[in-house]
Parts: sequence; structure tokens; C-alpha cells
Amino acid sequence: MSLEGHELRWMKHQTPIVDDVTLTVQPHETLGLLGPNGSGKSSLLQLLASLRTPDTGRVRLGDMPLRHQSRRRIARRLALVEQHATTEADLCVEEVVQLGRTPHRGPLRPWQPEDERIIRQVLERVGLAGMRRRRWHTLSGGERQRVQLARAMAQQPEVLLLDEPTNHLDIQHQLDLLALIRRLALTSVIALHDLNLAAMFCDRLIVMHRGQLVAEGTPATVLTPALIHEVYGVTAVVERSPHHGRLQVHYLPDLPPA
Ligand SMILES: Nc1ncnc2c1ncn2[C@@H]1O[C@H](COP(=O)(O)OP(=O)(O)OP(=O)(O)O)[C@@H](O)[C@H]1O
Ligand SMILES: [Mg+2]
Repeated sequence: MSLEGHELRWMKHQTPIVDDVTLTVQPHETLGLLGPNGSGKSSLLQLLASLRTPDTGRVRLGDMPLRHQSRRRIARRLALVEQHATTEADLCVEEVVQLGRTPHRGPLRPWQPEDERIIRQVLERVGLAGMRRRRWHTLSGGERQRVQLARAMAQQPEVLLLDEPTNHLDIQHQLDLLALIRRLALTSVIALHDLNLAAMFCDRLIVMHRGQLVAEGTPATVLTPALIHEVYGVTAVVERSPHHGRLQVHYLPDLPPA
């Protein structure tokens, strides 16, 4: 399923936070969303997920504008894992993940063995099968992040939006999570700060800077030293890794002599 944003603008206190952004995510594509702190990544994801309403512009999910679709219909097709996802009540892991089934349930469709099977399967896929009964507040940051991914997967969406899903994870779990997202082969948009992970796991990248989309293309066309300097103010060299064939960015800060 495709996802499109057309001329999206979202203002706060007369300041454009998302400023005239147009993007298309093709079915089954993994799109990396880059940009410095405060550039508008989370705001854009919230517009795409219908959690915020754009001041102008529109979002299309599949063959229909988002504003013509009910919240429930959207939630069956699209899931967002937020940057600071949390849960209010003192739930256990399994209960948090069960919330992902809400859009599929209703008065005529109570909890079924199929729901149970899906919960078991997603917990296994994120490596939390042994933690079903653990209380949310006892989990580490990385464990919480994986529970939120499991909850989104339990929604069985066709489009998955992830806001910095790797920021609390150790290296192995970062690699595992991004590899898992690729294997799911959904239409996904992933906000990331790690340019090397973006180059390794994303088909295409877009870069935001002060609310605007300033670059778009394959990792090889987007991740240039000039772009990295312009957007992040950092000097870098970029080369193709002889080990995995993807681009690799090396930052060159002022370091004391080694
Ligand atoms: N509700 C709001 N009211 C006022 N300003 C806001 C609001 N939401 C976001 N902003 C501002 O909009 C800008 C973009 O915020 P956003 O969270 O989208 O950035 P981001 O690219 O996700 O940053 P980060 O990498 O730190 O997560 C920031 O300057 C932020 O302070
Ligand atoms: Mg953010």
C-alpha cells in the first residue's frame, strides 16, 4: 500500500514546523527520514499517521485521502511507533501488545484464538516471548521500544511508521530490529539519526531541515559530504564499505591526537 503526502504544512505560533512537504512512499518500500533535532521529523510522521491535521495539504493512504477514512479504518492499515511511546496504566507486556488488536475488534468480534496467535507470534519476532507477564514500568528503555514495535505489528498494518525506533537499543538489537522491519516488507517510514544504519537498511532517504524537505533519493545520492555539512554542520567523508557494499559515513570532528 502506498502513502503520499502532498504539500503538507503544519504551523505552530505562526511558524511552519512542516513546510510544504511532498513525498510518496511506494508499496513495500523502506524510506529513511533523516534530519537534525527539531527539523520536523516527528511532526511529519504525526501528520502522515493522522494524529495531527495539516493546515494545508493532504495525505493519501492507498487509494483514498486520509481525511475520508475513519480512525478505525486507518488503524487497521497504518501503525505508528512514536518516539516517546509510553503507556499510562500499569499493564504487562502482553496487555500492551494486545492493545494493537483494538482496531480489529468490536461488539461482533470478541477476542479470538487468532488474536492470541498473533500476539504470541509478534512477541517471538521481537524477542520478548519470555517477558509476556513483565510489568511495563519494570522494563528497560530498549525492551519498552520492542514492546511498542510488537504492539504496532499486532495491528497487522500495511504501512508502518517508526520514529527513532533504535534510539534505546544496543547494537545487536538495532541491527535485528531494522532487519526485522525489512523482512516484514511493509511500506515503512523510519526516522533515524544514524546515517550508517539508514544507508544499510533503507531503499530511499529523505532529509528534513528546518521543516522543509531538502534532499530525496537513494542513499548514494543523498548522503554526500556537502549535504551532511549543510544540514548537520559536520565534516564527513563517505565511502562504500568493502565489507557490506553499503555507504559508510565517517565523521571528522576535531580530535586530540591519537
Ligand atoms: N506542539 C508544538 N508546539 C510548538 N512547537 C512544536 C510543537 N511540536 C513540535 N514543535 C517544534 O517543532 C520543531 C520540530 O519538532 P519535531 O519534534 O517534529 O522535530 P524532530 O525532527 O522530530 O526532532 P528530534 O530529532 O529531536 O526528535 C521543534 O522545534 C519543536 O520544538
Ligand atoms: Mg522527533
